Amino acid sequence: MVGVGPWAGPWPADDRYDPDLLAHGDRRNVVDAYRYWRHAAIVADLDARRHGFHVAIENWHHDLNIGSVVRTANAFLAAEVHVVGRRRWNKRGAMVTDRYQHVRHHVDVAALARWAAAAGLPLVGVDNQPGCEPLEQARMPRECVLVFGQEGPGLSDEARAECSRTVSIAQFGSTRSLNAAAAAAVAMHAWVRAHADLGT
Ligand SMILES: C[S@@+](CC[C@H](N)C(=O)[O-])C[C@H]1O[C@@H](n2cnc3c(N)ncnc32)[C@H](O)[C@@H]1O
Repeated sequence: MVGVGPWAGPWPADDRYDPDLLAHGDRRNVVDAYRYWRHAAIVADLDARRHGFHVAIENWHHDLNIGSVVRTANAFLAAEVHVVGRRRWNKRGAMVTDRYQHVRHHVDVAALARWAAAAGLPLVGVDNQPGCEPLEQARMPRECVLVFGQEGPGLSDEARAECSRTVSIAQFGSTRSLNAAAAAAVAMHAWVRAHADLGT
């Protein structure tokens, strides 16, 4: 059985706990520290600790990677995920993590760029086109939006033009590129290695 059963013993008096979950068990995909917590209490706790990086992904053809990008963004505590282009995206890969992750939609790259400028955040492109800065040697800004292209076309010309810099992940094999969700995980983890409090 996934998750935990009904709470055993006297119920906690903390109002972050959800009486329904205490009574019936908690089968959600959440870390143990959040077991039996109300959904809103979990989001509030995450909001108080969110990291300085955002993630943006272009969605012109219903990219199936977006769910997986959202899940990874949740795991690494991204401030927000930005879906650029089509509003609808396939949620299956998110495994319900989108309920705990702020996801904002922008109709096009210009709208994302306006939003980022107003928030004072640089757009950092992540792509495998020639001329990119190697991610392995780049210094990631603490506050930024990491912008990913989609399967097939990769980062659009419009997005590249709006990015103050573009970084690429070193590859060594024969394939032209990583899967976009895998590339997003690598880039987010580079931010984590540079800036996250690892408690060590
Ligand atoms: C599948 S790739 C696009 C492939 C590209 N059009 C090609 O065939 O060369 C989709 C997205 O994944 C990310 N990506 C894949 N491989 C990458 C790499 N080696 N470095 C940085 N980003 C990468 C980028 O955001 C890219 O826009």
